[in-house]
Amino acid sequence: MDFPPRRILVTGGAGFIGSHIVDHLVRSGHHVGVIDDLSSGLEENLPKGVEFFEVDLKHREKVGDVLADFRPDAICHHAAQVSVSRSVRNPAVDAETNVLGWLHLLEEACSVGVKRVVLAASGGTVYGETPVPATEDWPPSPISPYGIAKRAGERYLEFFTRERGLEGVVLRYGNVYGPRQNPHGEAGVVAIFCQKLLLGEAARLNDDGRCERDFIYVGDVVRANLLALLAPLAQPYLTLNVGTGLATSIRQLEAELRHVLSQVAGRSFPSPIKGPRRDGDLLRAVLNPGLARDELGWVAQIGLRQGLMETAQWFYQRAVHSEPQASPQPPLQPETLVG
Ligand SMILES: NC(=O)c1ccc[n+]([C@@H]2O[C@H](COP(=O)([O-])OP(=O)(O)OC[C@H]3O[C@@H](n4cnc5c(N)ncnc54)[C@H](O)[C@@H]3O)[C@@H](O)[C@H]2O)c1
Repeated sequence: MDFPPRRILVTGGAGFIGSHIVDHLVRSGHHVGVIDDLSSGLEENLPKGVEFFEVDLKHREKVGDVLADFRPDAICHHAAQVSVSRSVRNPAVDAETNVLGWLHLLEEACSVGVKRVVLAASGGTVYGETPVPATEDWPPSPISPYGIAKRAGERYLEFFTRERGLEGVVLRYGNVYGPRQNPHGEAGVVAIFCQKLLLGEAARLNDDGRCERDFIYVGDVVRANLLALLAPLAQPYLTLNVGTGLATSIRQLEAELRHVLSQVAGRSFPSPIKGPRRDGDLLRAVLNPGLARDELGWVAQIGLRQGLMETAQWFYQRAVHSEPQASPQPPLQPETLVG
C-alpha cells in the first residue's frame, strides 16, 4: 500500500480508531492534521509529527480556519458523539456533532478544494437485524438517534459528491476492537470485558451471551481507511462494509478472551455471570465484506484470536503499569453491542 505523500486531516484523531489511522498515516510519510475536541479522545494518543487542532466541530468558524490553514487533500472523518444511550436521552446533542458538525466539515472542505472524504459509519445501527451477512443494499433501518444521524451523514456525503464534486467513501464498520478502546464507553464489549476481568470481576453475559456480532480488529479498519483515502476509485461515491462476514456470539467472545488473557497474564479469570436480555439489543449483526474486496482489494487479515491477543496484551500492560490506581475510575457501563 504505497501511495505518494498527501495532506490528510483526521477528525477524531485522538480517539480509539482515529489515532490508529493517524499512526499509520504518519509512518507512511503523509502530512497529517488532527481535529479533536478531546471530549473522549486523549492527546497522548497522537504520535509526534502531527499538526493538532483542538477544535469542536460544532464551531463552524474554527473548522473553517483549520481547513484554510491545513489545506488537506483528503479528510478521514471519525469525530463523533459515539454513545447510543446518550443519543436516546438527548437526540439534539447527538445531532449537534453527528449531523451539524459533519455538515460544517463538508461545507468547509468544499470551500478549500478537498478532493476526498471518508466517513466512519456504523453497520450495526444502520442495518438492524441481519439473519444473513448484510450487503450494502440491505434496507437501512436505524432506530436510535445515533443510527439515524449516522445514516443522515451518509446521505449528506452522497449529496456533496453529487452536487459539489467531492469523492466520498462511506465505511460501515462492524464491532471494532483493539488497543486504546475506551472501556468506559458503551460500545466496546471487548474493552469492557478486558477491563472487568483484569479487575478480577466476572463479565456479564446478557441473554446468555447468544447475541452475535461481526468483530473486526482495528488494524484491519486502518487498512480499509488507507485504501479508501488513497486508492483510485471506480466511482465518486462508494458505500462499503468493513467487517469479517463471521458471526461470533458474545459467549464465544468472552470464552476466547478469557483464554487469551490467561495466557497473557499467567493466571485464570472468573467465569461469566448471566444477565437479562436487554431491550434494543440486536440478536445478529454481521456484515458481508465482498464489495470492499471488489472495490478496494480489502479483506480482513487479523483473525479473532490474534486480534484478541493484541488487545489483551495492551490492556494487561496498561493494568500492570497503572497499579495502584492514581484516581478512581468512572463506573463501567453495561455493554451495548453497537457496531
Ligand atoms: N468503535 C466501533 O465499534 C465503531 C463502530 C461503528 C462506527 N464507529 C465510528 O467510528 C468513529 C470513531 O469511533 P471510536 O470508537 O474511535 O470512538 P472515540 O470516542 O474513541 O473517538 C471519537 C473521537 O471524536 C472526538 N470528538 C467527539 N465529538 C467531537 C466534536 N464535536 N468535535 C471534535 N472532536 C470530537 C472525541 O474526542 C474522540 O477523540 C465514530 O464516528 C464512531 O461513530 C465506531
